[in-house]
Amino acid sequence: MSRKNKELSFEDFQKLAQQKGLSLPEKIGFPTLYREGYYDVILQDIFTKLPFNNETNKVIFDIGCGCDILTHKIISACKQQKHILLLNDSKEMLDNLPNDKYPRLIPGKFPVQHKTLNKYRNKIDYILCYSVLFYVFANDNIYQFIHESVDLLKSGGKMLIGDIPNFDKRNRFLESEEGKRFLKNHKQLKGATAHENYNQKMDDTIIFSLMMRLRKFGCETYLLPQNSDLPMANRREDILIVKR
Ligand SMILES: C[S@@+](CC[C@H](N)C(=O)[O-])C[C@H]1O[C@@H](n2cnc3c(N)ncnc32)[C@H](O)[C@@H]1O
Repeated sequence: MSRKNKELSFEDFQKLAQQKGLSLPEKIGFPTLYREGYYDVILQDIFTKLPFNNETNKVIFDIGCGCDILTHKIISACKQQKHILLLNDSKEMLDNLPNDKYPRLIPGKFPVQHKTLNKYRNKIDYILCYSVLFYVFANDNIYQFIHESVDLLKSGGKMLIGDIPNFDKRNRFLESEEGKRFLKNHKQLKGATAHENYNQKMDDTIIFSLMMRLRKFGCETYLLPQNSDLPMANRREDILIVKR
């Protein structure tokens, strides 16, 4: 696999998930430094958009949940609030998560047919899909992925598609005075170069057309910034979808 021209596929993630000796972030394709020290601020940013930390007895579905510390924190928060939590990723990835009765695991590549998931169709309050859409965009049918997700939501339900790298946003930032100062700092630059050498790039046109399309299918959509304390807030943003 040449990482220069190709973004990680679902199958690549399956292999990483099984590799011994990798840290949890490495198993989801990130260098350990990407998220170290940032897990709580990422989680708080998610809670400002999907406030399931303040509610109880909701149905929550995390698509492409991975197995990083963030996911372990989401499991604890949901258990504490007595939510039903459904987690989807490859079986290999899910094998790195706790294997008791909580949460309910939905193995397979989304969109996936699964008995438990079918039971909750049109009944899901919140869907989280964090740091995933870019890989779907690079490898699969992004429209099918999003429509099938939204179909699972109940009326009034919300989906957060978080941490979307936007190449145009990155360029606007790097051309600014702040961006020029940023480029001089070699340490920061390392984290900043992710997803920049590949042919498939998400940009304003992709992000806005996705939002417009969902509005045609009975949803409200909002483009939201990340908390500026997040490591890639200068180049990534989130889409919030509310199903009517
Ligand atoms: C960068 S990781 C993010 C994991 C987690 N959401 C987080 O933010 O910590 C991307 C994850 O998406 C999963 N993934 C990619 N395409 C998927 C698909 N079509 N269905 C389910 N999971 C998918 C990968 O297996 C991987 O675990």
